[in-house]
Amino acid sequence: MAENKSNPNEVSDTGHEWDGIKELDNPCPRWWLNSLYLSGLIVVVYFVLYPSLPLVNDSTKGLLGWTQIKEYKEDLAKVEAKRAPFENQLAVMTVEEILADQKMLNYSIGSSKVLYGDNCAACHGMGGNPAAGSGYPILADDDWLYGGSIYDIEMSIANGRIGMMPAHSALLNTEEVDQLVQFVVDSSNGVSNEAGLALYNTKGCVACHGADAKGVQAMGSANLTDKIWRFSGDEEQIRHTILHGVNAVADAETRVAVMPQWSEKLAIMLEARAYAIEEGEDPNDIDWDDELEGDEAERLTETEIKKLAVYVHQFGGGQ
Ligand code: HEC
Ligand code: HEC
Repeated sequence: MAENKSNPNEVSDTGHEWDGIKELDNPCPRWWLNSLYLSGLIVVVYFVLYPSLPLVNDSTKGLLGWTQIKEYKEDLAKVEAKRAPFENQLAVMTVEEILADQKMLNYSIGSSKVLYGDNCAACHGMGGNPAAGSGYPILADDDWLYGGSIYDIEMSIANGRIGMMPAHSALLNTEEVDQLVQFVVDSSNGVSNEAGLALYNTKGCVACHGADAKGVQAMGSANLTDKIWRFSGDEEQIRHTILHGVNAVADAETRVAVMPQWSEKLAIMLEARAYAIEEGEDPNDIDWDDELEGDEAERLTETEIKKLAVYVHQFGGGQ
């Protein structure tokens, strides 16, 4: 208040007072004001150098010409430049060669995690262990429907797989079904069952599951003598498979087991290559114009599938 001014040692106040507490009128500290002015200056400089004002479709460009997208693209280009030598080399290597080359193997495995997560894990689970009862095969064990060699795995991915087992509900009577269920249970326990085996042989099971009931990889028929179940070891579930089959389209209750095709192109190439080797010819002499129409479907590139084959092979079950 006015009388305070008469004392030079006293700071003027604002005249506000609450319950005996006076609000003084001190100037702000210098350092504080200076930092306030400096921040203002930085804002102006930033505003001029960097994109700032949003416009209708774009924003002001800024004198430096910097954009987030540009920085991202530059970073990406750096990563791709690092990857390029590996990717180019993978493109001309076979999966067998990749497995034998530790450096390329490490690179393939490292860059497959996301690829596998995006495309395969929904069915086969992370690390090749699908959720129990999901109906998808485990990729991390030694039990393979279609073979566990690196070539077999590559072919499974490229071409897809569809196991076919006919429905037997119209072909067998109840007693025969019971006997065959018992035969499958006994086989998985290593118990011999002569009557069951006789039925197995006469009712056509042998044609697909083999004389030893261990399955035939060319057909993807399951091994019936182990305790690794494609579907389930439960007797009711075994009965269900026998009665309704697998991918037996005419049966409404059939089991559905379809592995999608990821590259028709690569599947044709692998087949041609395997055929040439079998015939004692040099696979490098294959005339691809002859083999390929040029419009084969490719959901994943050849190189991506090679990487995935190697990745799946090292889950632990590769042979
Ligand atoms: C829509 C579900 C689905 C997706 C996605 C899928 N698979 Fe499969 N996969 C299956 C089914 C079902 C089978 C078994 C087919 C059969 O029973 O005949 C299978 C079989 C396989 C086999 C053969 C297994 C064996 O025992 O011989 C391999 C290897 C495989 N898948 C790898 C992959 C890879 C790698 C991917 C990702 C690129 C993938 N799968 C994506 C459903 C899927
Ligand atoms: C035309 C070939 C074919 C015939 C015939 C056939 N199967 Fe199969 N069976 C298959 C295939 C292929 C699978 C595996 C399907 C898959 O996983 O995609 C299978 C799967 C099974 C399974 C499931 C095994 C598991 O691990 O869950 C059982 C059990 C079975 N068959 C029993 C039989 C019996 C018993 C007979 C004879 C009555 C028979 N099959 C006849 C092809 C056949």
